[in-house]
Amino acid sequence: MSSPYVSEVRRRRTFAIISHPDAGKTTLTEKLLLFSGAIQIAGAVKGRKASRHATSDWMEIEKQRGISVASSVMQMSYRDHVINLLDTPGHKDFSEDTYRVLTAVDSALMVIDAANGVEAQTRRLIEVCRQRDTPIITFVNKMDREVRDPLDIMDEVERELGMPCCPITWPVGQGKSFGGIINLRTKSMTVFAAGSEKRPQDFEVIPLSEGDKLRARFGQAFDDALESMELAVGASAEWDHEAFLAGKLTPVFFGSGVNNFGVMEVLDAVVDMSPPPGARIAYTEVNRQREEKTIHPDDSGFAGVVFKVQANMDANHRDRIAFVRVASGKYTPGMKMKVQRTAKELRPTSVVTFMSQRREAVDEAYAGDIIGFTIHGGVQLGDSITDGPALQFTGLPFFAPEMFMTVVLKNPLRTKQLQQGLMQLGEEGAIQVFKPDAGGNMLLGAVGQLQFEVVQHRLKTEYDCEIRLEGCQYTGARWITADTPAELREFENAYPLRLAHDAADTLAFLCTSPYDVRLAQERFPKIHFHPLREHA
Ligand code: G4P
Repeated sequence: MSSPYVSEVRRRRTFAIISHPDAGKTTLTEKLLLFSGAIQIAGAVKGRKASRHATSDWMEIEKQRGISVASSVMQMSYRDHVINLLDTPGHKDFSEDTYRVLTAVDSALMVIDAANGVEAQTRRLIEVCRQRDTPIITFVNKMDREVRDPLDIMDEVERELGMPCCPITWPVGQGKSFGGIINLRTKSMTVFAAGSEKRPQDFEVIPLSEGDKLRARFGQAFDDALESMELAVGASAEWDHEAFLAGKLTPVFFGSGVNNFGVMEVLDAVVDMSPPPGARIAYTEVNRQREEKTIHPDDSGFAGVVFKVQANMDANHRDRIAFVRVASGKYTPGMKMKVQRTAKELRPTSVVTFMSQRREAVDEAYAGDIIGFTIHGGVQLGDSITDGPALQFTGLPFFAPEMFMTVVLKNPLRTKQLQQGLMQLGEEGAIQVFKPDAGGNMLLGAVGQLQFEVVQHRLKTEYDCEIRLEGCQYTGARWITADTPAELREFENAYPLRLAHDAADTLAFLCTSPYDVRLAQERFPKIHFHPLREHA
């Protein structure tokens, strides 16, 4: 390969951290930042909750609720690699946002609470990773607590992930008797010591060849660990890097995030095991025909895709940021770029990277990096941005809402602000906004109840619009496409009161029961009803 970008691409790792709430994702994120040198230890230790807000919870509502509504992005450098870490909201009502984040990464780090095993929210995230064959690294956290047997946990991970596990570290004891972890590769044991200020080099490492010493120190727990490790190794797959990259095998690590223990091993695994940015599929139009095109990370043209839009992240910057995952080429300040959907030039007021707690102006960015364009409209989720020929990336998912509410504006004089607010929140993907074709009040569609509350709150605080949300008869929606305009017209004439357009101006059919879709499908067999819309 002769591209000048090859070495930059190769040293990048872009991954998402996923877990069920409370498994220790925030703690682990913070420790990864700490060990890469991205944040100072004092700041991190002092007031963990406070720094949690500073690093990942930007919006006021998140602070009030103590949950992570928005996903955040952090860049750090470690061992001459550039690591982009994307946090994902843990609350189930924000899973849509999480799914989109997973389209922007090349691998995922799954954090599991060793007492609880694989929990509901993790299961849903795993499904998305599996669909995309995203490689997953597994971290079993909280070994300093009384937890489940490691063999048991591994078995569960295998079953839930539907892929073999390969232990890379193995715990000696747990809870009060937690002695540390055995590293199967280096054949040594790292001795556990509690304390959130520990640095990786502070932990004592003893080679397994000094078995007598380890036995004398850790007693039965050491022998038990050796025995269960042997069983685990016998029952699990051998390390196969290709299988991991294909999303068909997961390496498993044990540790205790809050004690900084076992974390360095995970950070090293991100560098050593997880893949650099890969190729992405896009469409181009050739002679009015859509043609698939593979975009390689070291291609010279700049191309990126908007996987998240967020307004007013920080009270000091009342703006909107389009988060772009760079897919190829190099971004440099001042370069000319176009939003391919509209063919309009993109003129951001600023372009930033996300260095742990602060935003910084970008000097350059390559495939795998996440950059934020400060914009004032004109950009939507799923938009492709390039400095060259027209192309459109695919794969950003929108799920058909399962809950609907009608928006009633308390003060009719604020109609304009309401429209603007709903348009922007719809473009952000905070909620889905439907404008009924037959007129009348706007409808909001959500996947989770909390989305309604967030939108109501944000309309009030950011757009000075007080709304009331009223129940409505709809319980589902399907996006509609047809093979010919005539078929579509016929369908539209048959259901004039059931049609609406969403924020991306895509036609949707609103349903009041699951039978609606079946009946409509029987009546119009050539119309396509989509439960999922991929931006294309
Ligand atoms: P989340 O982002 O996945 O929701 O989890 P978070 O990191 O906030 O961790 C959830 C709780 O689990 C926190 O306790 C945290 O301190 C604790 N925790 C994380 N890692 C470990 C670990 O390795 N061992 C033990 N024993 N606990 C761990 P909290 O009481 O909710 O918060 P805090 O008051 O401790 O800050």
